[in-house]
Amino acid sequence: MAGSVSDYQRVEVSEAKSFCERCMVSVGTKPDHAAALAEVLVCGDYRGHYSHGMNRLEMYVKDIKSGTTVSDKEPVILKELAGSAWVDGNNLLGPWVGKFCIDLAIKKAKEAGIGMVVAKGSNHFGIAGWYSLRCVEAGMIGMAFTNTSPLVVPTRGRKRTMGTNPLSMCAPAANNDQFALDMATSTCAYGKVELNDMKEIPIPKSWGSNAKGQETTSPKEVLTEGGLMPLGGTEECGGYKGYGLAVMVEILCGILGGGNFGPFVRQWKTSTEVANLGQCFIAINTEAFAPGFEGRMSTLLDTCRGLEPAEGETEVLVAGDPEKRHMEKVDKEGGVLYHKNLIRQMGELAKNLGVESMKTKEA
Ligand SMILES: NC(=O)c1ccc[n+]([C@@H]2O[C@H](COP(=O)([O-])OP(=O)(O)OC[C@H]3O[C@@H](n4cnc5c(N)ncnc54)[C@H](O)[C@@H]3O)[C@@H](O)[C@H]2O)c1
Repeated sequence: MAGSVSDYQRVEVSEAKSFCERCMVSVGTKPDHAAALAEVLVCGDYRGHYSHGMNRLEMYVKDIKSGTTVSDKEPVILKELAGSAWVDGNNLLGPWVGKFCIDLAIKKAKEAGIGMVVAKGSNHFGIAGWYSLRCVEAGMIGMAFTNTSPLVVPTRGRKRTMGTNPLSMCAPAANNDQFALDMATSTCAYGKVELNDMKEIPIPKSWGSNAKGQETTSPKEVLTEGGLMPLGGTEECGGYKGYGLAVMVEILCGILGGGNFGPFVRQWKTSTEVANLGQCFIAINTEAFAPGFEGRMSTLLDTCRGLEPAEGETEVLVAGDPEKRHMEKVDKEGGVLYHKNLIRQMGELAKNLGVESMKTKEA
């Protein structure tokens, strides 16, 4: 986390959720839809993914206020087989659609071994990991994918064409351990570029390109005229593999689900069109396969963690470990640290919506 401690204020997790809920309810969101959104957003912050947490709240408020996203319907199953379902999210909040879909996938996996649910008509769903982790809570492997607004410039191109299309894959291991891969298929999430811009610090190489399609370290250039680079960065560094993964996610989401896809998804933040995102949720019941899954998972994870670290490093991690550390720190310190600029923005939002402002503590 960049900056000094005095740049931050602490907010208890329960208060952060409650603040998100009161903002959303104040603009007409159904309480259970608002609670689902608050749960996923604050989970993002709690896990250390500040790019997909409360910093997005204003966008959801705006979408509900303008009617671009609605809250007066429920998701509907359009087609269903033993292990699969196709769902219309009816333009509801992404976390509400996602929760419906992943719970349906888990139910199907209990009966059919695997459950795969694909939605159209959805909206931004926050961190992909939340949905996969719900499967881990049910003792299953979980996968979740979404397409997003075009922000990524394909290898050799200069125009934003693909979304940051995140994917997550989480799996349970023995003794409540887990593998939790949750990542954008761009080198970094767009929100991280926005955060650097807000804090006025340059971005590392391979995060984004300028109007000419060339690598840049200026967050402004990326946000205004360029775009994000696919996972890996330049072609020389394997960026075309990230580009391929983004297309893979798109196939499972917008193409399979019949929603918008690729460059035809609405522009990020500036458009008032309905998003009609495609999303895919998979639950895999490990009991349908070889016995002893969790034990073998633990062996693999512990083997990786037990490796001799490279010179200058202290330990080898597996996916999910950085988030686990972050959650332990938040618990120990009694709340999530938010940058003062975000706290100020949330104060203004509360004032505009006429809701009680968020209770903060000195960091
Ligand atoms: N809804 C959307 O439109 C959208 C779009 C893009 C990203 N996102 C979300 O943004 C979040 C951030 O994405 P990101 O790509 O910036 O994540 P990231 O790069 O911080 O982490 C990606 C993964 O790498 C793992 N990891 C990190 N350091 C590691 C190490 N040293 N060893 C082993 N594993 C390690 C993490 O545990 C995580 O699973 C994710 O939750 C993602 O779902 C959402």
